[in-house]
Amino acid sequence: MMLNMSLTTPFAVYVHWPFCLSKCPYCDFNSHVRHNGVDEARFVRAYATEIAAAADRVPGRTVSSIFFGGGTPSLMQPASVAAILEAIAKHWRVAPDVEITLEANPTSVEAARFRGFRAAGVNRVSLGVQSLDDAALKELGRLHSAQEALDAVAIARANFERYSFDLIYARPRQSLESWAAELRRALAHAGDHLSMYQLTIEPDTPFFGLHKAGKLVVPNEDLARDLYDLTQAICVKAGLPAYEISNHARPGGECRHNLVYWRGHDYAGIGPGAHGRLTIDGRRVATETEKLPESWLMRVEAAGSGLIVDEKLTAGEAADEFLLMGLRLAEGIEPARYTALSGRTLDPKRIAILREEGAVETTTDGRLRVTLSGFPILDAVVADLAA
Ligand SMILES: C[S@@+](CC[C@H](N)C(=O)[O-])C[C@H]1O[C@@H](n2cnc3c(N)ncnc32)[C@H](O)[C@@H]1O
Ligand code: SF4
Repeated sequence: MMLNMSLTTPFAVYVHWPFCLSKCPYCDFNSHVRHNGVDEARFVRAYATEIAAAADRVPGRTVSSIFFGGGTPSLMQPASVAAILEAIAKHWRVAPDVEITLEANPTSVEAARFRGFRAAGVNRVSLGVQSLDDAALKELGRLHSAQEALDAVAIARANFERYSFDLIYARPRQSLESWAAELRRALAHAGDHLSMYQLTIEPDTPFFGLHKAGKLVVPNEDLARDLYDLTQAICVKAGLPAYEISNHARPGGECRHNLVYWRGHDYAGIGPGAHGRLTIDGRRVATETEKLPESWLMRVEAAGSGLIVDEKLTAGEAADEFLLMGLRLAEGIEPARYTALSGRTLDPKRIAILREEGAVETTTDGRLRVTLSGFPILDAVVADLAA
């Protein structure tokens, strides 16, 4: 029996809430502080408008995952989250086992809303714990202590089927021993998923200036590599191997939403500064909305969507993107899909060289994947294969 692809192919909706209580000095996400408050009801109406516009372009899809990211979506009222979910369900079919994730900051104020988010339909939370060391949390500009974060994790566990939390490592003055102890402590509180990011010094952040002035010293390449290897060893032992460079899960606990990005499926981006990838008339289209929240709001109110980029990708661009995203996954990619997208095969000579260097391997079922030792040089591997 021919199955309707629109019912079986994963399709995700990303909703960006761009507000935070304060700006962390390392963060370059599209997040803004508004001391005079936010007209939440007006924003929610605009989200519903933009959802309707996206559904007009890709009707008939079945939503397999929804992700509220930020910024800090846990600052939203549960009723706003419910209204956005209703708008999604009004325009698309929602799969009965849909994964609905909300990113939350682990302060007590936000944890108090978890029950309301659960009632609105959220079934997974992702908490920005970042560290279990109070001094490090302070340096990262966080508004919560380690204990408060662990309390929020416990409240998440009590309210949601699934939860994850983020940690940042390769921080200033971090030793292998201190990270091993912190990570083991964190693992004792882990559910089915953990994200661990190496601290990146992003341009145009306060950390960038401090780093440039020599006032913020981060681990050098060798120590960062050792911290990465140590992270892998400890997490594998704890039953949460990496399924993507920075993401670890127990088997079956992988974040389905993120898999949509990395496996090259479609997703609609809703809200200020959201990115989307939609297949329209057989062509992959890249979308991006206005970043500044108030300008986005005015665009949506005037034109029905905040789109500022709406671009058909060339076959080469779509294929390179597939490579870049897919090789982040431990499962790797199906080379035939690359060929179908680009019209060319991956160069066997280049693959052979990378295989000899131990950076990639081919699985028994013919998938190409990056090895654990290849992950830290992933960008170079992708550049080599895509050239
Ligand atoms: C959209 S952000 C945060 C969600 C939420 N607002 C919070 O801070 O808890 C997602 C995650 O990216 C990570 N992150 C942000 N900036 C980073 C940086 N410069 N280096 C490494 N990780 C970073 C943090 O772990 C953060 O939790
Ligand atoms: S890390 Fe989270 S809380 Fe901090 S500024 Fe970025 S999005 Fe906001």
